[in-house]
Amino acid sequence: MPTPPLDLPPAASENPWQAARSVDKLSIHGDVRLDGEIGVSGAKNAALPVLAATLLTEQPLRIGNLPRLKDVATTLTLLSHLGVRAQYTGASEVVTDARDVSVLRAPYELVKTMRASILVLGPLLARFGRAEVSLPGGCAIGSRPVNLHIQGLKAMGVSIDIQDGYILATTPGLRGARIVLDLVSVTGTENLMMAATLADGITVIENAAREPEIVDLAHCLGAMGAHIQGAGTDTITVEGVARLTGTHHRIIPDRIEAGTYLVAAAITGGRVKLRDTDPLLMDAVLDKLREAGASVETGRDWIELDMRGRRPKAVDLRTAPYPGFPTDMQAQFVALNSIAEGTGIITETIFENRFMHVQELQRMGANIELEGNTAIVRGVERLRGAPVMATDLRASACLAVAGLIAKGHTLIDRIYHLDRGYERLEDKLTRLGARIQRVSGGSAAEANANSGNRSTTTGSRAPMRRSG
Ligand code: UD1
Repeated sequence: MPTPPLDLPPAASENPWQAARSVDKLSIHGDVRLDGEIGVSGAKNAALPVLAATLLTEQPLRIGNLPRLKDVATTLTLLSHLGVRAQYTGASEVVTDARDVSVLRAPYELVKTMRASILVLGPLLARFGRAEVSLPGGCAIGSRPVNLHIQGLKAMGVSIDIQDGYILATTPGLRGARIVLDLVSVTGTENLMMAATLADGITVIENAAREPEIVDLAHCLGAMGAHIQGAGTDTITVEGVARLTGTHHRIIPDRIEAGTYLVAAAITGGRVKLRDTDPLLMDAVLDKLREAGASVETGRDWIELDMRGRRPKAVDLRTAPYPGFPTDMQAQFVALNSIAEGTGIITETIFENRFMHVQELQRMGANIELEGNTAIVRGVERLRGAPVMATDLRASACLAVAGLIAKGHTLIDRIYHLDRGYERLEDKLTRLGARIQRVSGGSAAEANANSGNRSTTTGSRAPMRRSG
């Protein structure tokens, strides 16, 4: 097994991603009923592990339906730092070539901006027997440890040291193992599944996550020559092979992006038809939207929601691993309940600190009481526009959705969170009739004053800024 030298990361001042923080804001004039048709992009949470899987082979991988997102750009930057050549061959298609990987260290500067960087750990160990990955550290929605990734890899014969905030991992060769995950972890399952593809022998992952993005990754790995059974169930069996090959893989549609636009239409009493989506991945969310009073129709690759001008009814929900209600849709449903008829009780069971959007919604006039991991949302007739601050990816989506129904002007600061996971959100919402614009830089006060003036904004049609 080749063991290339471990290179040091470039100095912070040389890191191109360091200067990439966008100070853009979103300006929304609310109280507009949405109506129209838009396409759904590829799934962020499927794209990131599939990109990491490119490290498993020397042969090129062609990845289609890749969303143009900050997290995808960050992953491509990380891969390129490791020595992977990646080239866009279409608006949403990338060809990667990991033949010349020479750096086995994922630096803190990247990992801290995107926790999913941990996904390179399993593939690097499987192919090179060594890896150094920065610990992700805390994040806005909770402590989010990686102990399950580490325990599983140890069971497969990896020695792990934690030094100066880095996971230092080495193995003379991965071997198959039976791994029982204490908690259902999506990226944990993915990391171990990828590692197991090149291990010696059979790996069984019990209490595995069942998310559709795991099934998508398993399809990609299978097309690369891996032997995987049971993806999509709670027991995944992987029989290691000697090597993997290149392939062409198309990323599945983003069920969270789709759900966000459905909530956006529902909250405004409007209608939306989504193309390029897969309703079969979204049962829990579609059921809750129907319960809220929406008429929802579906076909093989489309979903149409019509609220017919009605005010939504409040819904109770509890987040859970797939096929339960996704934690990544919790914030958007808090927004929906905030103007609904009645009181909705929303319980978050996956992340301990995932109600940061509540305070911001309260600034817009929402009536929400927090009791531990439960939000009691008493619907009010109307929200009022206000300057608000995005705190994490889905909280940003919640505020954008709330801004659509609020009376007056909402200015959302720190939308770099939003750019991590939504492709051209303002374009897509504009196509549905929303009055929404991206405002570049400047102070909140300036942006507020200029919010109606197109000459000082990038406009809703401006291309998304990419970093790295
Ligand atoms: C993934 C998704 C994220 C989603 C989350 C839950 C990606 C890139 N991100 O995140 O959008 O919100 O699933 O559906 O796919 N845990 C541990 N130890 C570990 C790993 C996880 O205690 O080693 C805990 C976490 O703190 C959390 C729970 O397990 O409480 C689930 O987290 P996990 O499924 O791992 O989330 P991610 O894979 O990071």
